[in-house]
Amino acid sequence: MNFLGDDKSAFNRRALFTGTTALGSGLMLAGLNSATAAAQTRSDSRGAGEIASLPRVKQELMQPPFAPKHEQVAVGGPKVVEIRLVIEEKIMVLDDDEAEIWALTFNGSVPGPLIVVHEGDYVELTLVNPASNAMEHNIDFHAATGAMGGGALTLVSPGEECVLRFKAIKPGVFVYHCAPEGVMIPYHVVHGMNGAIMVLPRNGLTDKDGKAIRYDRIYYVGEQDYYLAKDEDGEYLKYDSAGEDFADALEVMATLTPSHIVFNGAVGALTGENALTAKVGETVIVIHSQANRDTRPHLIGGHGDHVWSTGSFADAPQTGLETWFIAGGAAGAATYTFRQPGLYAYVNHNLIEALLKGAAAHFMVEGTWDDDLMLQVRKPSPIRS
Ligand code: CU
Repeated sequence: MNFLGDDKSAFNRRALFTGTTALGSGLMLAGLNSATAAAQTRSDSRGAGEIASLPRVKQELMQPPFAPKHEQVAVGGPKVVEIRLVIEEKIMVLDDDEAEIWALTFNGSVPGPLIVVHEGDYVELTLVNPASNAMEHNIDFHAATGAMGGGALTLVSPGEECVLRFKAIKPGVFVYHCAPEGVMIPYHVVHGMNGAIMVLPRNGLTDKDGKAIRYDRIYYVGEQDYYLAKDEDGEYLKYDSAGEDFADALEVMATLTPSHIVFNGAVGALTGENALTAKVGETVIVIHSQANRDTRPHLIGGHGDHVWSTGSFADAPQTGLETWFIAGGAAGAATYTFRQPGLYAYVNHNLIEALLKGAAAHFMVEGTWDDDLMLQVRKPSPIRS
């Protein structure tokens, strides 16, 4: 399937985004030849033999909003963390009106699973594109260094797989996403093909004074903008296979007006019965990613106690925030210790995006109410003269 055809501008965009020629031949080899000299100038750089002798662990990935089991403070030295992502092209229903999309996913979920490692660990990813898929895919890790974040080394056709290893040198939370070529990059991203990785400092999270910050629960919220096309009657169009909506979707994408902005794949994925849970006194960390578009998380009835709005754990967290900003193409993290029981809404505080487009989640918190923090002094009743 060739969506780009022979269009000249599409070809130029492809060259711009993938650098296929340079990476595929001469420059790549030149880079390898100079690798030894460069390694000598970096004391933390390991040779192949040293990396081969590091402990290896397989990380069992979880479907968001859940995170894989992990230590907050690293135990022992650097490891090679093995990850397996299988690309699945599938129909997903997005709302109660049965709007649907042929989603492009990592491991079948939007967003893809949260990966958790420590700074200095190696991520060794096996990326699988089953033969039943229709399209080429790859992965660009914002946490990685070089080769388009790995995108230039991971392009797999249906029926292929590849293995990429990168060293996690920057502590923080980072987006990963599919980035095949040209306009296919935003097309795949707004069809769900993105997720996040958390690279914890080896000693765990700290505040501005270096004091430890620990969490009791972790949730991963991936915010997704979709651009569904409608027919003349205003009904969302349906398609028979992945990629068939390409021309229609591109037209809607060019308006920069999403039809849906949702948390974890669909309207209501994290509300009502699917609410996130916590107990009074527990500290929760929420990882929030948006691979394409700016957002502004806000916990209605609570705060961000410690917030890494840019996602960098090398920087001190901001404290006591009402709303925080996460730039498109980034992930951020926020902790909150719940002080009251009941229902909280965690929203994108462009409230139109939260309530008309779907970008909202719920927290249901158990515990004992604290009258000191809030009390309904008088219930709604007729106005007294
Ligand atoms: Cu893709």
